[in-house]
Amino acid sequence: MSRYAHITGWGTALPEHILTNQDLEQMVDTTDEWIVTRTGIRERRIAAPDQTTATLAADAAVAALKHAGVKPTDVDLIIVASSTPEHIFPATASIVQDMIGASRAGAFDLSAACTGFIFALNMAAQAIRSGSLDTAVVIGSETISRIVNWQDRNTCILFGDGAGAFVLQASETPGGVMEAVMHSDGSGADVLMLPAGGSKIPTSPDTVAHGLHYVYMEGRPVFRFATRVMAEGTREVVKKAGLSLEDIDLIIPHQANYRILESAARGLKLPMDKFVVTLDRYGNTSTASIPIAAAEAAAEGRLKPGDKVVFVGFGGGLTWGALLAEWTGPLPDREEIHPERYRLWARLRSSGLRIRRKFLAATTREKELGG
Ligand code: ACO
Repeated sequence: MSRYAHITGWGTALPEHILTNQDLEQMVDTTDEWIVTRTGIRERRIAAPDQTTATLAADAAVAALKHAGVKPTDVDLIIVASSTPEHIFPATASIVQDMIGASRAGAFDLSAACTGFIFALNMAAQAIRSGSLDTAVVIGSETISRIVNWQDRNTCILFGDGAGAFVLQASETPGGVMEAVMHSDGSGADVLMLPAGGSKIPTSPDTVAHGLHYVYMEGRPVFRFATRVMAEGTREVVKKAGLSLEDIDLIIPHQANYRILESAARGLKLPMDKFVVTLDRYGNTSTASIPIAAAEAAAEGRLKPGDKVVFVGFGGGLTWGALLAEWTGPLPDREEIHPERYRLWARLRSSGLRIRRKFLAATTREKELGG
């Protein structure tokens, strides 16, 4: 019996605070006109001090679970793709697992910069299709505002914060994730990176003094690379699925720069209205940009059950990839779930586990000292 991995729920979390191009004009030597003509971006969201990559991810995941009608306790796997994980370790996904009360789920992060969501979606879908698990939550979540140098006009105008999540469920009905292609060219690792804070260049007063804890990007090589691989990746995944571009209803690209999208459309000889564009309002939200764009397209009725959709992205690594899916929506047997109850239960559960851990550590130490 064949198994398929369907996308049955989606949700987003977007910080309330909006930073406009006019606001940026007050911060760096730039203009609204430059930003709009060179990138298409008009505004972006910035996380509040109490919002983190994990809290945004948890909010998006809960919205997606509610939409799919899946209880957090029925989730087998959580993957968080992020360029701004909560810590180097533990994985942000583990923190999200605890926050949403997904008590049975395994959880890990996937690092492939902005392409991470596509790779994570493919990994979760393959685990479902192989029979290894039934239900997965895949999240792209970012607080890029925390690693951007707000005095560097080359980068600070581009990025925004936010999160998007998909629920994937096993089904014997054909559909869902059909094909994917995943690529990497590590010879370009140095053109787009966060130089310090990892094991190669640990954080020190010197790294901070030199701004090595901020995003470093060489815009032109990244731009050239992006315009090439967006069209190539799309063609490759469509061919691999045995389809042609005419069969594709919608393309949901990584939202980095409107000129990159125009160039991909030209390369594919497709009109721009086949592409979902949200970068004007959210900027580049890295791993979150594709699920946010998909959720908006579904809410607007541009993405309907049965539609063939290509997700295509690129990012640091350098990495690029594309995934072709038949869009599904909630399964017929979906339940009405109350996420706020699960979140309360999750908080109580987490507190109980923490107290138990402290108690066990104290009693073990007493025994050791006594023994
Ligand atoms: N305002 C005004 N002028 C600016 C600004 C700004 N914000 N930024 C740069 N400039 C100036 C430059 O200093 C340069 O001036 P000069 O000619 O006197 O030297 C001029 O504008 C042109 O600069 P370019 O870098 O050539 O501008 P370009 O047209 O390439 O646009 C951009 C720059 C928007 C960054 C573009 O290269 C781009 O989009 N690159 C890809 C970025 C991207 O997609 N990143 C993905 C990240 S994905 C991830 O994994 C995180």
